[in-house]
Amino acid sequence: MLFRELNRGKCKTYLVACAARRRAALVDPLKERIDRYLAMLAYEGCRLELVIDTHTHADHRSGARELKDLTGARVLMHRRAPAPHVDVHVDDGERLGLGDLTLAVLHTPGHTPDGISLHVGDRVLTGDTLLVHGTGRADFAGGDPGAQYDAITEKLFALPDETLVFPAHDYRGHTHSTIGDEKRANPRLAGRSRAEYVTLMNNLGLPLPEGIQEALQANQSAIEDGSITFPALAQLSAVRQVSARTLHARLTAPHAPLVLDVREPEEFRGELGHVAGSRLVPLRELPGRAGELEAFRDREIVAVCRAGVRSATAAAILTGLGFERVSNLEGGMLDWREAGLPVER
Ligand SMILES: [Fe+2]
Repeated sequence: MLFRELNRGKCKTYLVACAARRRAALVDPLKERIDRYLAMLAYEGCRLELVIDTHTHADHRSGARELKDLTGARVLMHRRAPAPHVDVHVDDGERLGLGDLTLAVLHTPGHTPDGISLHVGDRVLTGDTLLVHGTGRADFAGGDPGAQYDAITEKLFALPDETLVFPAHDYRGHTHSTIGDEKRANPRLAGRSRAEYVTLMNNLGLPLPEGIQEALQANQSAIEDGSITFPALAQLSAVRQVSARTLHARLTAPHAPLVLDVREPEEFRGELGHVAGSRLVPLRELPGRAGELEAFRDREIVAVCRAGVRSATAAAILTGLGFERVSNLEGGMLDWREAGLPVER
């Protein structure tokens, strides 16, 4: 296996490649370092097959989409990832071939709902779920400290003790550790019950990193060209949420809401389908096309997308434009489908 960390900074990007057949994956590439990655791949004689984001990043712009455009590699993320243009959605337990290598996917949420770890050979890439002597914060972007504790203790700590741990971030100059080290000496986890861990993580009191909303919302929506102005965090948290079952019941009752689907057209017609009678206005076009919704100003509007993240942005934008009865389908079409509700394609 060819394995290298390419950034030498706080954000880690890993090259993982089959040494014999020169098939490569880039894990968590940064947008601003794409030239360097392409040069490295050429130097190593590797063909880029997969670009993997271990989760939706809040602290940097992902280079995944641009690498896909430049090389034809497929973008891979967990099925809960909110962004469009992901070619391969994976879930816990899936195995991916890369030349002669096999990458095993572990769903390790907690830092974000779409977190994955990748177990390959003698090592595991742990994203921002498990860090060297730390864990990724779980206080924004759908974070859940309880889920994080479970993912770490039940999935990552089930790997052999000698397994090498390579995180997506490090702030103290570490390169890696082992599962055994982290079990023994991770100061957030060692000797702590789940409840104690949750209390600890809910009281870290960390300030939000600067520029987080810009990076997060750009990565969640794949909109980076300034075609929309992203709403502030406070506006997003004020968005009313409606569950899939509640929306379904409301649609057959009098005064049914307008279902506004803000995904890309290929997603609307794609695998997850859409809610019957919904109207498609992709998020990037919403500010310019809000006029089309004038007739619905007095009616309730429910925004819908894949995972309920882009649609929360849409709901906040419409609220900002003076639409007063806007809410968001919580969990998006993923939750709608998981509830067994009908779709059209
Ligand atoms: Fe992260």
